[in-house]
Amino acid sequence: MWDRLWINARLATMTDGAPYGALAEGALASADGKIAWVGPQGELPGTPAELAREVIDLEGRWVTPGLIDCHTHLVYGGNRAREFELRLEGASYEEIARAGGGIRNTVKATREASEEELRAGALPRLKSLLAEGVTTVEIKSGYGLNLETELKQLRVARSLGKELPVTVSTTFLGAHALPPEFEGDSDGYIDAVCAMMPEVASSGLADVVDAFCETIGFSYEQTKRVFQAARDNGLPVKLHADQLSDLEGAKLAADFGALSADHLEYTSESGAQAMAEAGTVAVLLPGAFYFLRETKQPPLEAFRSAGVPIAIATDSNPGSSPATSLLLMLNMACTLFRMTPEEALLGVTRHGAQALGLRESRGTLEVGKVADLCIWNIESPAELAYRIGFNPLVTAVKDGRDVVSGAV
Ligand code: NIG
Ligand code: FE
Repeated sequence: MWDRLWINARLATMTDGAPYGALAEGALASADGKIAWVGPQGELPGTPAELAREVIDLEGRWVTPGLIDCHTHLVYGGNRAREFELRLEGASYEEIARAGGGIRNTVKATREASEEELRAGALPRLKSLLAEGVTTVEIKSGYGLNLETELKQLRVARSLGKELPVTVSTTFLGAHALPPEFEGDSDGYIDAVCAMMPEVASSGLADVVDAFCETIGFSYEQTKRVFQAARDNGLPVKLHADQLSDLEGAKLAADFGALSADHLEYTSESGAQAMAEAGTVAVLLPGAFYFLRETKQPPLEAFRSAGVPIAIATDSNPGSSPATSLLLMLNMACTLFRMTPEEALLGVTRHGAQALGLRESRGTLEVGKVADLCIWNIESPAELAYRIGFNPLVTAVKDGRDVVSGAV
């Protein structure tokens, strides 16, 4: 017998075939936290009462996979509202960074914060994501820039996944910015990051390694050294690539078989082609594009025609995207990047899972995957991307259990 059976559902399975992998009169069952059955209700192998201990009549509501936010920097100290004001007075993100502000401001506040303070700061941001149906989230370090503080951030990230009903994937982003104590010696800092790698790996606190390959970050060669150290320590990689200029980050990520390359506004066609061949997901971050008032569009057509899977994420961070709404990102991906609502929803389900190396267990409604679901009060899946600032979540289900009840 199954544990739970949802009937009279409209299912957006996000598998291939019909748009959204939709099934109009569907049913879905869970057992031991996994999806045990999914299909047309008429094909159920018995009456609902015979089949499951609990039957939930959805009365035609839509069900999608639980949402996946595959790129965040949720754990940090302080905030950068003052820099927002400075940018409104005319300073650019790059100018603020070069003057010693930007990421370095957050590094100072993060180093000074206790684990409890970091936890308390991140908790409401994470709850805001969960309230919209996020069941899996990636959280990066990168505001410590020394081993002690990077591990502190990663520990807090891991603990949030124990405290709240969400799967947390953690990423070590030691190569995010140059810390003040290494001023003028970025190669020396990269040596230090590589030297952190064995302990980061053996701590089990990081699932993936990331870097910021950019004129205000680290060079192609420096990023390559970080990736090599990750590889030597058995950790997969992803990259902040081509956000403000084309340093061929997409190609570098592809060369290392990266799970994803993220931002990508300046990526070339050949970079997109390399990503397609490597199976590297393009993670687009419309919140950062919007908040920094970027004008250079990521090469969506190149990704589409090369067949690169495209994911969408909040990039939730204090400097370039203080966003805690993944649904808003769906709308922005469509309005700013001209993605279709179906592409956007794939970006926070199937392709979001792939960007985290979790394709086997999450991201679609298929038998054997974890029973992470969202039940929505909508008439069509496109509404998830269409509305602005409205949350139609009825219930979020994590590992087969109801964990969040929405307001509608
Ligand atoms: O993804 N690009 C670099 N890192 C972050 C911004 C971090 C910050 O400004 O604090 C990003 O946009
Ligand atoms: Fe980021």
